[in-house]
Amino acid sequence: MTHSVVISGTGLWTPEQSITNDELVASFNEYVDRYNRRHAAAIEAGEMDALTHSNSAFIEKASGIKQRFVLDKEGILDPDRLCPTIPERGDDEISVQAEIAVKAARQALDNAGLTADDLDAVLVACSNMQRAYPAMAVEVQAALGMNHGWGYDMNVACSSATFGIQTGVDAIRNGSARRVLMVNPEICSGHLAWEDRDCHFIFGDVSTAVILERAEDATSANQWEVLGTRLQTKFSNNIRNNFGFLNRAAPDGVGARDKLFRQEGRRVFKEVCPMVAEQITSHLGDLEVPVEQVKRMWLHQANLNMNEFIARRVLGREASREEAPVILDDYANTSSAGSIIAFHKHNADLPAGTKGVICSFGAGYSIGSVVVDRVK
Ligand code: COA
Repeated sequence: MTHSVVISGTGLWTPEQSITNDELVASFNEYVDRYNRRHAAAIEAGEMDALTHSNSAFIEKASGIKQRFVLDKEGILDPDRLCPTIPERGDDEISVQAEIAVKAARQALDNAGLTADDLDAVLVACSNMQRAYPAMAVEVQAALGMNHGWGYDMNVACSSATFGIQTGVDAIRNGSARRVLMVNPEICSGHLAWEDRDCHFIFGDVSTAVILERAEDATSANQWEVLGTRLQTKFSNNIRNNFGFLNRAAPDGVGARDKLFRQEGRRVFKEVCPMVAEQITSHLGDLEVPVEQVKRMWLHQANLNMNEFIARRVLGREASREEAPVILDDYANTSSAGSIIAFHKHNADLPAGTKGVICSFGAGYSIGSVVVDRVK
């Protein structure tokens, strides 16, 4: 027997510290000035290129981002550092990533009216894991106080949450779990090249969580049935990060630019947007959900212009902010968490019977869509 599965609770943990575009640009420009002064002779002799200032107005126009939340503002804004300072912790302390996962998870459990012992499984789904092993999910399982069950990590970059939802739904449908926590602790400030003008404004930190359970078990006042999930991947080098455990086996490359996030932003925009719109349209079609019935699309939050393009393609007209909510102005790109933040903040107002789509896209390329229907 296949079981109907519902999203019965979500959680969001937002860091206390935030950085506006103006603050970010001021420290970046100070870094540029210092760099250019330090290398003035080589720049003058044509042996090196001078660096160029960044610009708040460009950032907002090109991306829609106005600010971002981060774990450590001071290190990022220090022109001599441009990197968060996150001290190492001992093995007897909870790791930073598990800690923020637990904060979002507890809120999701509260919203679903559950405790950790009700869970059978934990999926930590995000772009970067703090360590190789043990799996972050197993630490989260222990920190929540779960006395049974299993957990594992999965990484599909910006699409990790929708891929995680499908994995959780499949586990519940096939009986390997009754209730699943899917959590997205994204510490994007750790993989961003804050000294690269083309992308220094893109990312922020956050943690989100989703509870999935059998419809027959759910008691939450707010339940969204998962009508269907669809995943798609297509290899591309246009968003890539070569950081990994083999780096030390090739010491020349340690610390090189390719060991952090980098992208061909224009190409990503051009190639991914039509694929996403096509996937949402065909997914709805296959589920026999007319697009007119879709009242909200909680899209991945990377770039406002991308979301407007995708929503316009799907709806055949401009989408309103109610139809395609925007959170990236406050949060920037939080990788896999973006569409879940949008869903968390912007679903309670919709009545039972409303249909919507959660959709993420990013490195891989990877695209995930989850069609949902509010049942309570
Ligand atoms: N400040 C001022 N100017 C800047 C700048 C900055 N921080 N960064 C780039 N520029 C300049 C460039 O030098 C370029 O100048 P030129 O025209 O004289 O060569 C111009 O602005 C346009 O640069 P470009 O990189 O083409 O900008 P864009 O309009 O494509 O916007 C992104 C850049 C990254 C915002 C955009 O491409 C994007 O968001 N793409 C999709 C990315 C995405 O979603 N990735 C998924 C990650 S998960």
